[in-house]
Amino acid sequence: MRAPLIERYRDRLPVGPGTPIVSLGEGDTPLLRAERLSERLGVELWLKFEGANPTGSFKDRGMTVAISKALEEGARAVVCASTGNTAASAAAYAARAGLQAVVLQPAGAVALGKLSQALALGARLLAVRGSFDQALAAARELADRGTHALVNSLNPYRLQGQKTAAFELVEELGRAPDVLALPYGGGGNTRAYALGFEEQGAGLPAILAGEAAERPSTAASAIRIAEPAHSAEVERALERSGGRAVQLTDEAILDAWRLLAREEGLFCEPASAAGLAALAAGGVDPGALVVCVVTGHGLKDPETASRLSTPPVEVDPDADAIAAAAR
Ligand code: F0G
Repeated sequence: MRAPLIERYRDRLPVGPGTPIVSLGEGDTPLLRAERLSERLGVELWLKFEGANPTGSFKDRGMTVAISKALEEGARAVVCASTGNTAASAAAYAARAGLQAVVLQPAGAVALGKLSQALALGARLLAVRGSFDQALAAARELADRGTHALVNSLNPYRLQGQKTAAFELVEELGRAPDVLALPYGGGGNTRAYALGFEEQGAGLPAILAGEAAERPSTAASAIRIAEPAHSAEVERALERSGGRAVQLTDEAILDAWRLLAREEGLFCEPASAAGLAALAAGGVDPGALVVCVVTGHGLKDPETASRLSTPPVEVDPDADAIAAAAR
């Protein structure tokens, strides 16, 4: 049986003996050595595949804590604004806890896999006529009325859960990596990793936070966020770490997405490749121990995947025709 993340790190999380644990078996995700990309980039590269979490993204680490605490504190309903993954995670953990989930998504801007997930999991999904940033402002206002617990990363329990990914990295590598590269949307995850490394006294890796140069319109819909809620804290963490934010074109993000798939067999959603894209932009010492966090599964965004790939060739069920077509 897979131990709930909260059980594994109970002494370092804000839970007590009376906290009901709402878990789907999150965390403990694969850390994969990337041989080909290491060679290509001249570093020792490892990939932390957070797409292997129960709902297909890193959000589950924080959501198990946020929903457990919401239940403990007597909430009946939760609310979040989301580009899709937070919504899917909130929907799943709320269903398991018997809570209502209201999820606000920017209308027409969420990838199909995430949308279907939240619907199938029984969330009250509202497509907001506006941007993610506007939906988040509305979610905060609703939560302020006291009827719904906010489970966006502004909820401090979310970051507490997400910091456990840094614990896992130190356990597995025996030390903190020299460099940590990850996507930067709202910045909650960047803050959470910094918190996790600093709490262990393991030393803070230089953090490369890959963000879309065109934040409001990037093809990487998960990080289509104009105003990162955690920007001030992210800036401070990057400075402490000796790292930086790296502005990425969509082309650079999608190139990295293709490399992960074709060189390493790792299928992620486009935003999840922003860490690798930031690393590929250069400036890292040769031979450095680098971890790229791959934040979400490729099946989250099947439309982008098929749009960017060569369509299948149709053939008759005939070995000669297949051999000819397969050349
Ligand atoms: N990668 C994926 C797959 C995401 O879904 C997100 C954020 C990020 C990276 C960026 O993380 O915001 O902590 O800097 N998704 C949020 C959502 C906004 O609503 O699912 P961040």
